Amino acid sequence: MTDSPLQVLTLPTAPYPDQRPGTSGLRKKVGRLVIGQNGIMSTPAVSCVIRKMKAISGIILTASHNPGGPDGDFGIKFNTAKGGPAPQAVTNKIFQMSRTIEEYAICPDLRVDLGTTGKQTFDLENKFKPFTVEIVDPVESYANSLRNIFDFAFLKELLSGDNHIQICLDAMHGVVGPYVKKILCEELGSPANSAINCEPLENFGGHHPDPNLTNAADLVETMRNGQYDFGAAFDGDGDRNMILGKHGFFVNPSDSVAVIAANIFCIPYFQHAGVRGFARSMPTSAALDMVAKVTKIQLYETPTGWKFFGSLMDAGRLSLCGEESFGTGSDHIREKDGLWAVLAWLSILATRRQSVEDIMTEHWRTYGRNYYTRFDYEEVDLDAAVEMMLDLELMISDKAFIKQVFTVGEKKYQVETADNFEYSDPVDGTISRNQGLRIIFKGGSRIIFRLGGTGSFGVTVHLYIDSYEKDINKIFQDPQVALAELVAIALQLSHIHERTGRSGPTVIT
Ligand code: G1P
Ligand code: ZN
Repeated sequence: MTDSPLQVLTLPTAPYPDQRPGTSGLRKKVGRLVIGQNGIMSTPAVSCVIRKMKAISGIILTASHNPGGPDGDFGIKFNTAKGGPAPQAVTNKIFQMSRTIEEYAICPDLRVDLGTTGKQTFDLENKFKPFTVEIVDPVESYANSLRNIFDFAFLKELLSGDNHIQICLDAMHGVVGPYVKKILCEELGSPANSAINCEPLENFGGHHPDPNLTNAADLVETMRNGQYDFGAAFDGDGDRNMILGKHGFFVNPSDSVAVIAANIFCIPYFQHAGVRGFARSMPTSAALDMVAKVTKIQLYETPTGWKFFGSLMDAGRLSLCGEESFGTGSDHIREKDGLWAVLAWLSILATRRQSVEDIMTEHWRTYGRNYYTRFDYEEVDLDAAVEMMLDLELMISDKAFIKQVFTVGEKKYQVETADNFEYSDPVDGTISRNQGLRIIFKGGSRIIFRLGGTGSFGVTVHLYIDSYEKDINKIFQDPQVALAELVAIALQLSHIHERTGRSGPTVIT
């Protein structure tokens, strides 16, 4: 406590016309702030802490999977009392407020020691008292919840018992490093060299902290030599994950959630809580649908973005969900959770004692394979992208488009339906329109075009392609070969290269 009250200044400010969703509504009287030690806490840990302490909301300062630091991006996430990303009604309100904001309160002399855990109380003027800042261990509360979800003794046997496997986890210099070290190494006994890039750096060591084949290429390369049985990478704030097997065998995120669904009772949490429903975002492949069908568990297809899952979870309708964009999670919190996904996979490996590749190929043999690829065209000129989408929508909504047959080489694809995806939330009826253009062919193959919403310059055009194959003689192809015809059709329909001035995508997954 300081001797005399610290001065609070109210400063004039100007409205922001362009800050959607903008800063959060810190107009409420704030009596207590909880911050991770040294300012570090992963997005899933924040979600966990908000729920545990019944906080009114949380703010995460992160550019998530975007490159950060002085030459990169800065970002603000606002999570509500349920622990998940703010729904659109809230972000719209924030946006509105940011256009009329006229003053804000700040306390320039307040100094918080971020390095020491415990409570610090400050005597502020008038309505802001008492003001308490609590610095907490960023890992402990979250690790505790994982201990209740998984069987740590069983996982410890897998990672450090007589017959242990070797793993390699790449934190990409994001916030997950301390979590990996404490949970996987210290507690589960994985050797120190199984955790790489675990020191959080402000600029992520100059790399792009997004776990995919392009940005986590070093890990893929490391895995190729065959020393490690299991590999994973995380994004800057720890909510995304990429799973790899021995020799760099890549598990597509759409397949990853399907494998977890098919083996869900390897995770003790679900043995107790049961399984209420599965969900995937619309552009995610239908691999999860196949598992839902066989297990007779309800499947929801939502728009892109985790907030749509949160509403289903709050209503007790959803247990496990995933997105093709390297997001996997469950109703233990309201965010996707990279480390949870890793422990889910390790629980499956510990139970089945098979390699990642064997588990994946056996899955395809049982359920068929959804070949999947995503092309990202990053930082495209917004006008060019919007015009392309408008023209595409016009074309696919023409009656003549339906039933049209596209022939590439020997393959024929007949259009069955095409639309601009819209979603009505089954819990509160909220309608979300304009969520991506879908062209669905007879047999279930799909071409999807969607404009991204998390880039900070221009816009990312996403092209998603999904095709189902149940013939077990045809399930072992390279996805780029298996999907070549559909890619050709998508390029021809959209003229995306001509319209964007690109000769190819920035990232292929
Ligand atoms: C991207 C992904 C989406 C994910 C979001 C946040 O959004 O496509 O699945 O939920 O990041 O991690 P986009 O930029 O495509 O709108
Ligand atoms: Zn993230």
